Amino acid sequence: MADQAHAVPKDGHSGGTRREFLYLMTAAAGAYGAATVAWPFISSMNPSQDVLALSSIEVDISSIQPGEGITVKWRGKPLFIRRRTPEEIKAAEGVNVAQLRDPQADKDRVQKPEWLVLIGVCTHLGCVPQGEKSSEPRGEYGGYYCPCHGSQYDTSGRIRKGPAPLNLAVPPYSFTSDTTVKVG
Ligand code: FES
Repeated sequence: MADQAHAVPKDGHSGGTRREFLYLMTAAAGAYGAATVAWPFISSMNPSQDVLALSSIEVDISSIQPGEGITVKWRGKPLFIRRRTPEEIKAAEGVNVAQLRDPQADKDRVQKPEWLVLIGVCTHLGCVPQGEKSSEPRGEYGGYYCPCHGSQYDTSGRIRKGPAPLNLAVPPYSFTSDTTVKVG
């Protein structure tokens, strides 16, 4: 009887031990599962050669006429490159910056007044604004018009009306020649 009493403790400790063992086994299996799932995910975060190749692009801008723009893809986003007319430059430079929602002088947004380089993603909810081509609506300020909820940007890509909180972003870029822009 004494042996039986010893084999099955009244405090149920052996059941607790079994539960702890099962818990540890489950935790170990979970950790292993997490590791095997995490690797492909982490691995996929290393950019492939194709993606690295696209991290910077060179764009020939020689055929863009004044008042027109082109849209190219850069890092999965639309990139606007627009050649501004003297009137568009004047309008952009003549704005009272203090009155802007996202105050920024035109000279701080362009490297050459004639060229406007922007990420073509509306800062409201991410639609692609219209106006890069002169045949598209450009809104009241002559820049870009986002048809999703009516945001309007000026000829410097600054937000002037509608719900968008910020100006269209300017990506890192440089001119590698008079007719080539390198973005990224
Ligand atoms: S996404 Fe452009 S106005 Fe809403």
